[in-house]
Amino acid sequence: MMWQNIPYRSKWRSVAKGVHVTAAKDALGHLIVRNLVKSYQTTVALDNVSLETDSSEVVAIAGGNGAGKSTMLKVISGTIAPDSGFVEFEGCRLQLGHVSDARSHGIAMVFQDGALCADASVFENLFLGAEPVTPLGFLRLGRMRQLAMEMIERYQLPIPRLDAQVKDLSGGQQKAVALGRALLYKPRLLLLDEPTSALGVREQNTIITNLLTLSEQGVGILLCTHSPDEILAAAKRVVVLRRGRLMTDASVDGLSRSDLAVMMSGNA
Ligand SMILES: Nc1ncnc2c1ncn2[C@@H]1O[C@H](COP(=O)(O)OP(=O)(O)O)[C@@H](O)[C@H]1O
Ligand SMILES: [Mg+2]
Repeated sequence: MMWQNIPYRSKWRSVAKGVHVTAAKDALGHLIVRNLVKSYQTTVALDNVSLETDSSEVVAIAGGNGAGKSTMLKVISGTIAPDSGFVEFEGCRLQLGHVSDARSHGIAMVFQDGALCADASVFENLFLGAEPVTPLGFLRLGRMRQLAMEMIERYQLPIPRLDAQVKDLSGGQQKAVALGRALLYKPRLLLLDEPTSALGVREQNTIITNLLTLSEQGVGILLCTHSPDEILAAAKRVVVLRRGRLMTDASVDGLSRSDLAVMMSGNA
């Protein structure tokens, strides 16, 4: 895909392509997840999970190890296909199992490990696999540098230098590079898989501040986490998964750390 052709707020394009459209104009940022089922041999990773979110929210997808959080984000981002169920974004049914389709609808995912190449520079990592090229196939290096600088400035990401090697960065800076790579697509829905895991408190706070800024700018956010503190700091709504099942979908208002811990562990 040509870089300059990456669509932005382009749901009408899908109408032109004849994709089934159920929602009206006000559906910008609206996500519908219906009856997702995904099994791995005898493990049911997602057991009939349904969810609706809007671009106005940061929704925490919470749960312990193996709850199904990553699987859910991977389905929405097109990384894996479910056994059954569907996902609609802004009124368009997504082609599940196709990252490029989710991306073309404005959905981007930041993987837990960042999926970074440690021996490459920040600059190379930001554009990995999606380098903008001229019609003759030459890299548009000046344009890339400009896009990267603008994005880092706009979101105030803690990335030191574009030519720094990723392996020389702190954990928080590496997470910021992974986040920056997703933001280059100007997503309207951002899926984050444990974005602050293995970070110190200060770096965690920086990432959370970035997420809140993005939310204020109208980006919908699904934030996978097992941390009650992170839920309280970032989200207004919490969806709890346990062994693939959606157990709770509630406002965070009035919930304490221990309420959230109990909801996730199921030891009420
Ligand atoms: N590729 C896979 N192959 C086999 N089992 C998997 C695979 N991915 C996830 N699972 C299983 O599915 C369940 C949910 O996993 P996951 O979505 O990664 O949970 P979480 O992110 O909440 O820790 C777990 O029991 C996990 O072992
Ligand atoms: Mg996970």
